[in-house]
Amino acid sequence: MTPFKAYLIDQQDGATVSRFVTMTEEQLDPGEVTIKVAYSSVNYKDALAATGKGRIIRRFPCVGGIDLCGTVVNSSDARFKEGDEVIATSYDLGVAHHGGYAEYARVPADWVVPLPQGLSLFDAMALGTAGYTAALGVVRMEDNGLRPENGKVIVSGATGGVGSIAIDILARLGYHVVALTGKAAESDYLKHLGAKEVLLRSSLDLSKIRPLDKGLWAGAVDNLGGEVLAWMASTMRQNGTIASIGLAAGMSFNATVAPFILRGVSLLGVDSAYTAMATRRKVWQRLATDMRPQHLHEMTHTVKFDDLPPLFEEFIAARVRGRHVVEIGG
Ligand SMILES: NC(=O)c1ccc[n+]([C@@H]2O[C@H](COP(=O)([O-])OP(=O)(O)OC[C@H]3O[C@@H](n4cnc5c(N)ncnc54)[C@H](OP(=O)(O)O)[C@@H]3O)[C@@H](O)[C@H]2O)c1
Repeated sequence: MTPFKAYLIDQQDGATVSRFVTMTEEQLDPGEVTIKVAYSSVNYKDALAATGKGRIIRRFPCVGGIDLCGTVVNSSDARFKEGDEVIATSYDLGVAHHGGYAEYARVPADWVVPLPQGLSLFDAMALGTAGYTAALGVVRMEDNGLRPENGKVIVSGATGGVGSIAIDILARLGYHVVALTGKAAESDYLKHLGAKEVLLRSSLDLSKIRPLDKGLWAGAVDNLGGEVLAWMASTMRQNGTIASIGLAAGMSFNATVAPFILRGVSLLGVDSAYTAMATRRKVWQRLATDMRPQHLHEMTHTVKFDDLPPLFEEFIAARVRGRHVVEIGG
C-alpha cells in the first residue's frame, strides 16, 4: 500500500487541531479487514469531533469520520474477502479508532456489514449513521406498537440528516408526518420529502411547558433534546412513543413523569454506535428495501475530500440541510 491521504484530528495545548496528513499502512489501527475507502459522510457528531465543540474523540490523534464504505483489499477473517463491498459505521470509528476520512481503513471484522443488495456504495454513505439511526428509531417505535393508524408522528431537527431521512422513511411507511424545524424557508423541501405538515420551532412557547398538554402525537423522533424533548413528552397521546436520538439543542431533559405514568408514554433510547450485529444487519436490509428513502439522492450533497474542513462549522451553525457524502476514492 502506498502512503495515503487522511484527515487527522489531534490536540495541541488543549485545543483541537484537524488537518490533512499523509499516513502509511503501519499507522492504521489493528483489525482483520482492510478497506479501500470509497465514500465517507458528515454527521453532526463528525462536526463536534473535528471542531472540538463536543468531547467526542476518546483517543488523539484520530482520523475523523464515523462512517465509511468501500472495497475489501484484504481480510484475515473468513466472513470477508478481497473485492467485497462493505459498510462500517460507528463503534469506535472516528472516535477512538481511525475512521472514514482516509483513503484506507483497517477495522475489526465484527464492525463490518456487507453492502446490502440494492444499495450502491454511494447510497450507503448517503444513508450513513444518520440513515441507520433514523431507521433504527423507527424500528424501535414499531416494536413498541407504533402504527400509521395510531396518529401523527412528529420529527424534530427536520432538515438535518437524521430528520430528513426519518421523514422520508415514515412517509413511505404510510405515517402522517409533522416536521418540526427552525428553518422557515425549508418548508417546501420538507413537504417534498413527505411531511404532511411543517411546524416552526419559533411557533412553540417552550418557556411554559406543562406536565401534560393536549395530546397531539402518536410518535416522535427527537434529534434535539432539551426543551423540545420535554415539550414533546407533554404533548404525546395515550401510549405514544418517543425515539430519543439527538442533543443538537442540549443534553438536559427537564420534564415530569406525568406523560409516562398518566398516558403510558414510552421514551425509547436510540444508540446507533453499539447495536448488536444481528439488529444492525436487519436494519440495513430494511434500508435497502421497504425503508429505503425515496428522496435519498435529492437530499444528498457530494463533497470532495479536499472541501471537507469548512463544512464542519456549517453543521455546528445548523446551516446545512440533508446529507453530505464525502468522496474519498469513489
Ligand atoms: N443516538 C445516536 O446513536 C445518534 C446517531 C446519529 C445522530 N445522533 C444525534 O442526532 C442529532 C441529529 O444528527 P444529524 O447528523 O442529523 O445532525 P444535523 O444534520 O446537523 O441536523 C441537526 C438538525 O437539528 C437542528 N438543530 C441544529 N442545531 C440546533 C440548535 N442549536 N437548536 C435547535 N435545533 C438545532 C437543525 O434542524 P432544523 O433547522 O430543521 O430544526 C439541524 O439541521 C445530533 O444531535 C446527533 O448527535 C445520535
